[in-house]
Amino acid sequence: MSGSIAVIPGDGIGPEVVEAGLFLLGAMGLGFSVDILDHVNAERFLATGVSMSDDDMARVHAATCVLLGAVGDPRVGDPAYARGVLLRLRSELDLYVNHRPAVLLDDRLSPLRDPARRAIDCVVVRENTEGIYVGSGGTLRHSSPHEVSVDNDISTRFGVSRVLRYAFSVARRSVCMVDKANAIPFGGGLWQRCYAEEAAAYPDLERTHLYVDAAAMKLVHDPTAFDVIVTNNLFGDVLSDLTAQLAGGLGMAASANLNPETGKGLFEPVHGSAPDIAGRNVANPFGIVLSIALMLDHLGHTVEAEAVRVAVRSAVRSGRCTPDLGGDLSTKDAVVSVVAELH
Ligand code: NAD
Ligand code: IPM
Ligand code: MN
Repeated sequence: MSGSIAVIPGDGIGPEVVEAGLFLLGAMGLGFSVDILDHVNAERFLATGVSMSDDDMARVHAATCVLLGAVGDPRVGDPAYARGVLLRLRSELDLYVNHRPAVLLDDRLSPLRDPARRAIDCVVVRENTEGIYVGSGGTLRHSSPHEVSVDNDISTRFGVSRVLRYAFSVARRSVCMVDKANAIPFGGGLWQRCYAEEAAAYPDLERTHLYVDAAAMKLVHDPTAFDVIVTNNLFGDVLSDLTAQLAGGLGMAASANLNPETGKGLFEPVHGSAPDIAGRNVANPFGIVLSIALMLDHLGHTVEAEAVRVAVRSAVRSGRCTPDLGGDLSTKDAVVSVVAELH
């Protein structure tokens, strides 16, 4: 199955890693057509105040899936920009699952001293359309000494149940639900009730629960204890940067934003636009390359997806990688080396 991919390179290292990713896709010869929206970026937002136009959204809707580099620019202080691109895409396409795997590809990349506790291989399933990200709230008495700000943390039975169902459906041995019900009781209570209900269909999977603070501690103490971690939008954002680092760094972390019912998907590295290294051709392309592997899985190209993962693992193990992973290759040379391994 091929299809069309709407591509949003974005800002900073986004265009650099997207170029590497498109090079890989082209070399695989799978016959995808690409529609590149390279005007969706901070430059245009600064000039016009537009993040994504209706025409841009129409092109996204017309595509089979979306590949995104990263959005964010130090010159843009207004959160409306990132919200208008990334959060609009996730919400308008109803991509309620954010699937973020963390797999340690080589021992030397683990920050943990005890070898027996290094081999992280887990997935953070992050609820992607609700929680404190919905933009419900406001500011009263703006800029006065008595200013008040409110961000409402929204959980719905519909939204929580469906992401829990997805988490159980991809688990191999266990699911750990993470909340903060001891301090945030209403949402936490709803998540716990839905968790017990959805678990009933999976009697063979181990089911555990942790508060988010304990989950952060335990992830560093022994990442091998986790298979699937399912949690709300905010905790999932934070924990998936932690799992990314435990697996060797943000430059290699991949994600799939999915709606399993509609089949829509947006694939992007977990990292941002990394302004500190942008424009130097040193950004690690493996985050987007492994996101493309998730996209290939999603499109039914499972053999090719696995071949990409094997090629990346081999590149990492033999040191054919960018400086953040201890290598000395450029962005381009790192992806070229993966492609060479594929052929
Ligand atoms: P970041 O992910 O851009 O960078 C964090 C650190 O990781 C930096 O030191 C950076 O150099 C390093 N890093 C990130 N990607 C790398 C790669 N591929 N190779 C090597 N090193 C890499 O996070 P930040 O600095 O907090 O955010 C910068 C901007 O990106 C902000 O505007 C933020 O809002 C935005 N952002 C966007 C996304 C997205 O588009 N999905 C995700 C996170 C942050
Ligand atoms: C991510 C990013 C985004 C998020 C930002 C850029 C809004 O950190 O994709 O993890 O918090 O979802
Ligand atoms: Mn994040």
